Amino acid sequence: MSFESQRVKQISSSPSMVISMRAKELACQGRDIVDMSLGEPDFDTPAHIVEAAYQAMRDGHTRYTAPQGTLALRQAIVSKFQRENGLTYSVDEITVGNGAKQVIFNTFMATLEAGDEVIIPAPYWVSYSDIVTLNGGSPQVIPCGIDVGFKLTAEALQGALTGKTRWLILNSPSNPSGAIYSEAELQALGKVLEDFPNVLVMSDEIYEHVLLADQPFVSFGNACPQLRERTLLINGVAKAYAMTGWRIGYAAGPKALIAAISKIQSQSTSGASAISQEASRAALQGPQDFVSQSAAEYAERGRLLVDGLSQCEGLRLSAPAGAFYAFPECSQLLGRSTPQGRVINDDVELSAYLLDQAGVAVVPGLAFGLPGYFRLSFATSREQIKKAVVSISEALAALR
Ligand SMILES: Cc1ncc(COP(=O)(O)O)c(C=O)c1O
Repeated sequence: MSFESQRVKQISSSPSMVISMRAKELACQGRDIVDMSLGEPDFDTPAHIVEAAYQAMRDGHTRYTAPQGTLALRQAIVSKFQRENGLTYSVDEITVGNGAKQVIFNTFMATLEAGDEVIIPAPYWVSYSDIVTLNGGSPQVIPCGIDVGFKLTAEALQGALTGKTRWLILNSPSNPSGAIYSEAELQALGKVLEDFPNVLVMSDEIYEHVLLADQPFVSFGNACPQLRERTLLINGVAKAYAMTGWRIGYAAGPKALIAAISKIQSQSTSGASAISQEASRAALQGPQDFVSQSAAEYAERGRLLVDGLSQCEGLRLSAPAGAFYAFPECSQLLGRSTPQGRVINDDVELSAYLLDQAGVAVVPGLAFGLPGYFRLSFATSREQIKKAVVSISEALAALR
């Protein structure tokens, strides 16, 4: 007997989780494994944020909150947008969920009719397409490989828009490519959308503060103010403040859309944890040194990894401008054989080979909608990165 509904049969478990589990299994068997599969800061949450959580409990912030988040947190988010982005929102244009992931889920559940199309440039964050599918939408994946800087162009967008398009998802800085859209690039996309008044834009800006090079981050809200009434900005505390486990994400957008998203929140989990909301308020309102210090460390680690991998014959990669991932193109290596005589046919087999042979867990490009690549997270120590580079280089050089 199958317990899965037709809806659930259409999606898969998170591929990066599957790989990470396999890596843990090998580690338990005594193998020395470098896990570069998960997109999670390896730093501890800054102490003042942890302290704010203790204080919240002592102060009695231990009850249900409004489904859309406490007024205090939403005010802190309003101030964040004003201070950091120069964007003006009111508290009823903000909603909070259990992570950005839940806010994204709620959004599609609240807005999609069966068969509505959602344009997703690939490589994309693994969950977008399954969340769209789960909510009855039809993901329209547009490959945007290394040769176009991993970015959607105005022409490609124009070609993908139809009468059924409901959403365009943008993610800058991008997981997994690290690409950042410039203001001009966002404006070019916005210009195309001016002729499609029914299309909404979800701009996932959760890596806003993880900047590795000189390229500035530009919010879609700043680049295309004329689309404000159909733009939803997604953000959260997970990546900027090493708070993945606290589960707080948020969105800013037009009031009616925010109300629809909050309605789903109220009937799924109710408000996010009151304690985490208070901690997130402290994160947004407190000292911000951690944000730039951690970004500087990620930048150093990224350089180590990219410099090392650039020496590997058969890999092509561009230096990521943001987030903490490298996304090398590996198609030249496909068709080669392992020392054991097994042919590597695709990025999934190459990733399995790297885990078995090099002891490094990476995620195949297929998981991000773009086969022929793989992703390595450098949210891990410099020592681990150096070790991984040596092991990967040796394993790739052994392919014939
Ligand atoms: C691009 C992107 N958006 C959203 C999320 C989800 O973030 P949260 O932990 O706040 O749910 C992630 C997490 O990996 C991500 O990489």
